[in-house]
Amino acid sequence: MNVLGIAGTPRKQGNSEILLRYALKPFKNNGWDIKIFLLSALTIKPCNACDSCKKTGTCIINDDMQGIYDAFQRCNAIIISSPVYYLNVNAQLLSLLDRYYAVNSTKPLEGKVGGAIAVGNGTNGGQTLALNAIYTWMLSCGIICVPGVLNGVKAVADKPGDILSQKNQLKQAEILGLNILKVAKELKSITSFNKYPKYNKKV
Ligand SMILES: Cc1cc2nc3c(=O)[nH]c(=O)nc-3n(C[C@H](O)[C@H](O)[C@H](O)COP(=O)(O)O)c2cc1C
Repeated sequence: MNVLGIAGTPRKQGNSEILLRYALKPFKNNGWDIKIFLLSALTIKPCNACDSCKKTGTCIINDDMQGIYDAFQRCNAIIISSPVYYLNVNAQLLSLLDRYYAVNSTKPLEGKVGGAIAVGNGTNGGQTLALNAIYTWMLSCGIICVPGVLNGVKAVADKPGDILSQKNQLKQAEILGLNILKVAKELKSITSFNKYPKYNKKV
């Protein structure tokens, strides 16, 4: 089994990256393969709506997204973390989410399991909105969204590494990971999603 982790922060060892690593711990303990993509180290350009993917089924932009398309196919579960920027996910992560457009018709994430983490420096800094953005994207991709102790994990932290002193939040990230792991194990992979005998997309 294979879990995909995506850290949206552009900062090395950013708080949201740290929480993502804690969420991945239960997978490591259960012998899963872990693939983690740090946007602090990658270049993912925004979708330019050229629509060439509609003809070829692949994205024309040759950047680090190509490896993530591959990981979408292989994973059984996905966890995404983001810093909160202006009450939303950050632009780097949003570029990645938009680039899913190129593979949307093949639905590589459909029936898989996912969860989200958001960190801002304000107490009501927009963590819930950022989580909603990620969970809404996940639902659009056909991902089964799993809650943590509350919905996803939302945390308040500022400088990189500040979150390490918040044991409760680190634990909540692990619990989110464990919940996702449990659901993924039960489901393995739902291959029959949206396969109703007489369902016609165009109706
Ligand atoms: C451009 C920018 C916008 C931000 N906007 C918000 C915001 O709307 N709400 C908030 O709580 N924190 C905001 N922050 C603070 C970050 O979310 C906070 O520092 C967080 O720890 C970043 O996560 P990271 O450590 O994973 O990078 C902003 C930071 C930057 C650089």
